[in-house]
Amino acid sequence: MALYTRVYMAVQISPSILSADYARLADETAAVSGVADWLHVDVMDYHFVPNLTIGLPVVEALLKHTSLPLDCHLMIDDPDRWAPGYAEAGAGNVTVHAEAARAPVRTLRAIRAAGARAGLALNPGTAVEPYEDLLPEVDMLLLMTVEPGFGGQQFLDMVLPKLRRTRALVARQGGAVWLQVDGGVSAETIERCADAGADVFVAGSAVYGADDPARAIQALRAQAERATAGSAWAR
Ligand code: DX5
Ligand code: ZN
Repeated sequence: MALYTRVYMAVQISPSILSADYARLADETAAVSGVADWLHVDVMDYHFVPNLTIGLPVVEALLKHTSLPLDCHLMIDDPDRWAPGYAEAGAGNVTVHAEAARAPVRTLRAIRAAGARAGLALNPGTAVEPYEDLLPEVDMLLLMTVEPGFGGQQFLDMVLPKLRRTRALVARQGGAVWLQVDGGVSAETIERCADAGADVFVAGSAVYGADDPARAIQALRAQAERATAGSAWAR
């Protein structure tokens, strides 16, 4: 195995319950606990994205049923108002969209102050460079690899150059910011993501569309670890 700095190394898999059976969320969560690192919860409001999912009451209910940390991805308008509540409820990570946050510094600090990790998400068409100064306020950058709103969409390869640039930016800042990809991440695409610099991988349909979600996670993790070990950025 190649030698690389441990801070870059750990691959994390965050299965998205958007592709799970919402009527059986406790069982669907149990199916990945012990194998997944996080449980990715997509919060949508019919405004920021043209879809509606779940909100704080379901997150609070989930927290009582799982020991997996919740990775809440807020695809909502006015995250400045709503994001801190998810952190206060006990989410392990709360991610807000750069396109929606009007006071990102205040909001990211409020998330951290409530004890959660603070994430900042960028849509495929949003450049990362304007957010470089925000990196010290951020624990994880989420680069969307589909337009947000729906599971099962095709992975957008056009995000890969941005992923490489983002990994270089993060490295210049010391490498502590996690780099997450979300959308179309599967056995076909995860190696490209890992090679370009991602270390946290959201997968919805590739996990919950599989016959055995736990085995699907193990296989994705093995692929991502191999690709990371062979990548230039992790050396
Ligand atoms: C889409 C969501 C994703 C979604 C990914 O807007 O943010 O988390 O669940 O689903 P897949 O992995 O099927 O593309
Ligand atoms: Zn998501």
